[in-house]
Order: sequence, then C-alpha cells, then structure tokens
Amino acid sequence: MSNYIERFSTSERVLHWIVTASFFTLLLTGLGLYSTLFNGYFTLFGGGRNAILIHKISGVLFFLSSLYMFFNHQKDVSSFDQDDKQWVTERGGYLSRNASHFNIGKYNPGQKLFAIFIAAATLVLGVTGLFIWAPTMFPRWIVQLSLMTHGLMFVCSIMFVVVHVYLATIGNPGTIEAMLYGNVRSLWARKHHPKWYREVTGEKP
Ligand code: HEM
Repeated sequence: MSNYIERFSTSERVLHWIVTASFFTLLLTGLGLYSTLFNGYFTLFGGGRNAILIHKISGVLFFLSSLYMFFNHQKDVSSFDQDDKQWVTERGGYLSRNASHFNIGKYNPGQKLFAIFIAAATLVLGVTGLFIWAPTMFPRWIVQLSLMTHGLMFVCSIMFVVVHVYLATIGNPGTIEAMLYGNVRSLWARKHHPKWYREVTGEKP
C-alpha cells in the first residue's frame, strides 16, 4: 500500500487558491464599504478609491474562478446517496463521543453543501454586485434590495468559510495537505473518505 494518494491536480489547487485569494481580497476591500467602522482597512489599499477598484477587479476574478471551480467538481458535489444520508442523520459523528465510521466518497455531505452554497452565493453576490456597480442604470428599489442582499450574503459566506477553514485545518489534521501538495496520506483517505479511497486504489472492501 502506497503511503500517499493523489487528491487534487495542480490546476485544481491553483484554482482553489485563486478563489481563496480573491475571496479574502473582497473581504478586506469590502469591509470599509460595509460600515464606516472599518474604513481603516482602506489604507491597506492606498485609499477608498483604490479599494473600490480592487473590489471590482477581485469580484470579477472571484465570480469566474468560483463558478469554474464548482463546475469542475459538480459531479462529485451534487449527488447524495444512502451513505451520505446516514452521515447527515448522525451529524457526521461530530456531536458524538464514540468513534464513528461512514462510507463516504470524495466529499462528505457537509463539504457538498458548502460547495453548493458557495456557488449559489457567488451567483447572488455577482448579480447584486452588478446592480450596485452601475446604480444609475437600474430602478432605485433594485439597487437598494441588492445592497441589502449583497451585505447579507457576504456575512453568511464569511461564517461558512470560517467553518470550512477550521475543518480543513485543525479540525481534521492532514486535510490541508490535499490543497498544499495535491496528495494525502492513505490512512487519512481510508478514515475520512473510504469509498473514494477504494475507487481510486481498487482495494476490495
Ligand atoms: C485559508 C483558507 C482556506 C483553506 C485553508 C482551505 C482549505 C481547503 C482544503 C484543505 C480543501 C480540501 C478538502 C478535502 O480534500 O477534503 C478545500 C476544499 C474546498 N474549498 Fe477551501 N480553503 C480555504 C478557503 C476557501 C474559500 C475562501 C472558499 C470559497 C469561497 C473555499 C472553497 C472550497 C471548496 C468549494 C472546496 C471543495 C469542497 C469542500 O472540501 O468543502 N475554500 N479547501
């Protein structure tokens, strides 16, 4: 048994880190637009005007790269089977004191829902962002509704991303190696994604 197996190709990892970099740039440039409390963040970008320009550029980058990432792994994240249902019923074992084992494929249902949520949030943030970008071209109520929705979606996305980063790092040791080096330890794969492990290696149950 080899010690490591491939989980993500170089292009998949580069795509994920482009999404991540544009997401955090949007977060930092967007905070000052969200509330005057955070205006100090504008100095990081050489003032408000620059921050808004960078927000627009990284918004386009995030929109395109995030949707591309979703369509790239749509097959793996958009179907749920019986084993996924059991994971959901037992809440992934996160709330149990006993060791739990689930027959999970490449992604668990939590990861699948996160990926679907991010794709939906990308669409909503992108469309509402366009209305805010050119406010004089659209009716006032559409722009106002967009401002509110954009802000709400932004807050929800941050909450989900905080949980994602925790689970992908200290919450599940070994997971970050997948996005850093492209491969993961076989033991990690057998423990967290046994069905995917068998698919990749051809190992019998
Ligand atoms: C410092 C920040 C981040 C870290 C450390 C991180 C880490 C990771 C890791 C290790 C994986 C692979 C999980 C696995 O192999 O099972 C992953 C997958 C993924 N990441 Fe991130 N990520 C970060 C930020 C983001 C952001 C900002 C987004 C989107 C806005 C994002 C979206 C995704 C998606 C959709 C997947 C695939 C499905 C999933 O594993 O949930 N990530 N990330």
